[in-house]
Amino acid sequence: MNTKYVFPEGFLWGGALAANQCEGAYREDGKGLSVADFLELGTVSSRVKDFKLTLKDGVYYPRHEAIDFYHHYKEDIKLFGEMGFKCLRISIAWTRIFPNGDDEEPNKKGIEFYKNVLTEMKKYKIEPILTISHFEMPSALVENYGGWENYELIHLFENYTRVLFTEFSDVKYWIVFNEINCAVNDIHGDWPICIHTGLKMDIGDNRFEKIYQAIHHQFVATAKTVQLCHKMLKGAQIGAMVAHIPSYPRTCDPEDIYNNFWRERYKELFFLDVPATGKYPYYFHKYMQQNNAIIDMKEDDLRLISENKIDFIAFSYYMSIAFSSYPEKYQEGSGNIFSGVKNPYLKASDWGWEIDPLGLRYSLNYLYDRYHLPLFIVENGFGADDDALQEEIDDQYRIDYFNSHFKEAYKAIEEDGVDLIGFCTWGPIDIISAGSGEMKKRYGFIYVDKDNNGQGTLQRRKKKSFYWYKDVIASNGGTLQ
Ligand code: BG6
Repeated sequence: MNTKYVFPEGFLWGGALAANQCEGAYREDGKGLSVADFLELGTVSSRVKDFKLTLKDGVYYPRHEAIDFYHHYKEDIKLFGEMGFKCLRISIAWTRIFPNGDDEEPNKKGIEFYKNVLTEMKKYKIEPILTISHFEMPSALVENYGGWENYELIHLFENYTRVLFTEFSDVKYWIVFNEINCAVNDIHGDWPICIHTGLKMDIGDNRFEKIYQAIHHQFVATAKTVQLCHKMLKGAQIGAMVAHIPSYPRTCDPEDIYNNFWRERYKELFFLDVPATGKYPYYFHKYMQQNNAIIDMKEDDLRLISENKIDFIAFSYYMSIAFSSYPEKYQEGSGNIFSGVKNPYLKASDWGWEIDPLGLRYSLNYLYDRYHLPLFIVENGFGADDDALQEEIDDQYRIDYFNSHFKEAYKAIEEDGVDLIGFCTWGPIDIISAGSGEMKKRYGFIYVDKDNNGQGTLQRRKKKSFYWYKDVIASNGGTLQ
């Protein structure tokens, strides 16, 4: 065994899933409709084209069944256990606990489901990491309250988190909102419903203002959740999460350096600065003024934010982007949530996401240097259209991707001194793509027999990477090449 890349003892190797992308059973056991239930195949995750959330006859909604984790969780967790997972990040569907978001009492069946899932994880000594809100909220909160623009959402979210902390009090790691920075993607567009914030946009609305008002409310909700977590769960840790996509200036033209600096702040760092430092950055009010936005902020809420900071930084990392102040001069790039121009030094996946393992080491150092808080990679993975006709699916490209990223994580810990809690691979079992609703964009070590149109037996099969990851975990990184 190669001992070059042996990780610190207790390092959390594992995987991550999101309820709306795996569970299915979208109306079972009292579950209410969430905004994710309205997304069609090919719909960009944050965009719904109708002003009212309606399910249309004859339309295929990929998340309604997804991979039916709701009925297969025992089988799936057993497979994760077989791989030796030390942790599993799942999200709770708000609509299983409060079907409409404002119900008087929580739905017992929903609580029971997650209790069963946690019991199953315990059986295999898998540490749970719970995301409280991952790209879904009760659709009733959009229709009846107008989403996160409404201050009342903070109270409703508090009711929800109180139930989670009461019922799942053994859980040690919590994440409040998945990729909270995705909301800014809805500023420049004309779609009427924004999934991440649950906002309804009418013609003539100041989208910028509405979105930042909603974000402020999410920050207040984050602070309340942190406060509640620290009060109710001794020893638990709670983090904020962003989609982390390091952005490199395409050239050393000072215009590129300067504009990229601001781009990173607006699109991402701002979203960690507030919950990690407890205050809004100095430029925030000027930025609002420049965009004719007046954000209603209560003194008490700002105090709450300053007194309740997060314990760790969670982030997803799939790729980096290159930024140019003159994008028309270059070929357009594509990517997860945000994109830039093509980086001539990097290769890309079939979906155009540029593969940048060193970017992960850079990111770990960058974030640790800025926040001095423990870091947690809660998503990283490689989406590919696997060839299921092979007797054993040979996904060497996925192995190569992880091998190179794990090594950079190792170097950040051992050679640079970064405090990294763990590494969750994204979609350890094939699930519905958040960006496109496809099944074809597979991330798993476990194949699920289902196609883009919903056809298939849902049968699970181990891919080559399954055995590879199992060995990596068993050797604590010792088998990395
Ligand atoms: C992250 C999301 O941004 O990227 C996940 O948190 C998502 O929900 C993942 O699935 C990969 O993106 P996609 O579009 O390939 O599923």
